[in-house]
Amino acid sequence: MNLPRPFFVLAPMDDVTDTVFRQMIATTAAPDLYFTEFVNVDGLQSPGRPKLLPKLVATASEKPLIVQLWGKTPGNYYKCAREIANGTFALEIAAMYPNIKENEINFAGIDINMGCPAKPVVQNGCCSALINNRELASEIIIAVQQGSAEGLKEAGRGDEVGDFPVSVKTRLGWNEIDFSWHEHLLSHKLNMLTIHGRTRKEMSKVPNHWDAIGHIARLRTSLSPDTKIIGNGDIVTRDQGLQLAEDYGLDGLMIGRGVFHDPYVFAESSPWGNMTPQQKIDLYTSHVKLFAETWKNQERNIVTLNKFCKVYIEGFPGAKEFRERLMDAESIENLLSMLESSSIS
Ligand SMILES: Cc1cc2nc3c(=O)[nH]c(=O)nc-3n(C[C@H](O)[C@H](O)[C@H](O)COP(=O)(O)O)c2cc1C
Repeated sequence: MNLPRPFFVLAPMDDVTDTVFRQMIATTAAPDLYFTEFVNVDGLQSPGRPKLLPKLVATASEKPLIVQLWGKTPGNYYKCAREIANGTFALEIAAMYPNIKENEINFAGIDINMGCPAKPVVQNGCCSALINNRELASEIIIAVQQGSAEGLKEAGRGDEVGDFPVSVKTRLGWNEIDFSWHEHLLSHKLNMLTIHGRTRKEMSKVPNHWDAIGHIARLRTSLSPDTKIIGNGDIVTRDQGLQLAEDYGLDGLMIGRGVFHDPYVFAESSPWGNMTPQQKIDLYTSHVKLFAETWKNQERNIVTLNKFCKVYIEGFPGAKEFRERLMDAESIENLLSMLESSSIS
């Protein structure tokens, strides 16, 4: 994968960065790399698989796209990695969504979530709980590395093995910053390692520890020089990201909630602050139309649009009242008619 240095990544955000929002960001100001929302490997290898496939829906405009996996069972990680790399998932998605062509979905790599701090996943031994279960973390990484290499060979893409990144996204530690965790991960010669600069205990409640991310970038230089280090946490402008990359020797910067404040956050010069209310309303209208076209079978509930309403419909007189009316809409038709007949200018 050819990426600039530093490169910018749209963070995986569950119920946010689906294909619809990724396509919107591709048209406002595209990052260099996209991640899917996290998808559970144990669910994907169960009878519940069809319900999870919408999380893997993608189009040609959101490229390159990394699939983020989470779960417990190394065998299921292996099977999913293989099916991502050999095109099985792409075929199934194309069969479910006739307007998506199989060859449009060309996943560029796999990331393993070892950072989510949410209680239900951690109690089950997944995500950031793997910080405390290094044996299982190793088994999972090896399963994904082997599964993706096998899948690429099956698909006749064996020459891409070294180019198909297997990466981990994690935090600084469990209760305390613990660099032995990152040394452990780097021993697996990952292609990329994304660090959200907080411990699991800190959730998102304290400022991001950029010095610690910088220390991990230096560890990488001695332990696994080819691993790209991506810093993540509280970045709200591209310039801030560029400065952090320089200060801490990072290869990439990942931005999550920053897109809520500025959908053009990846732009060299964001127009967001100068956009008219009508331009913002038009952007939300495009989002709602794309949502309706994509999720024809109600795979996503209309209420999931409310968080995007807060993104676009803001920063102008009357925005709050208008937003409240839009968020009460009972159907997509009702929502679109309010947007199209708005008298705000
Ligand atoms: C609504 C929401 C959903 C998230 N879902 C995921 C996820 O599926 N996988 C993941 O690795 N991180 C997830 N995260 C964490 C973000 O990717 C990111 O690490 C975190 O928000 C810190 O970066 P930021 O300050 O740029 O937002 C989520 C965060 C938010 C706010």
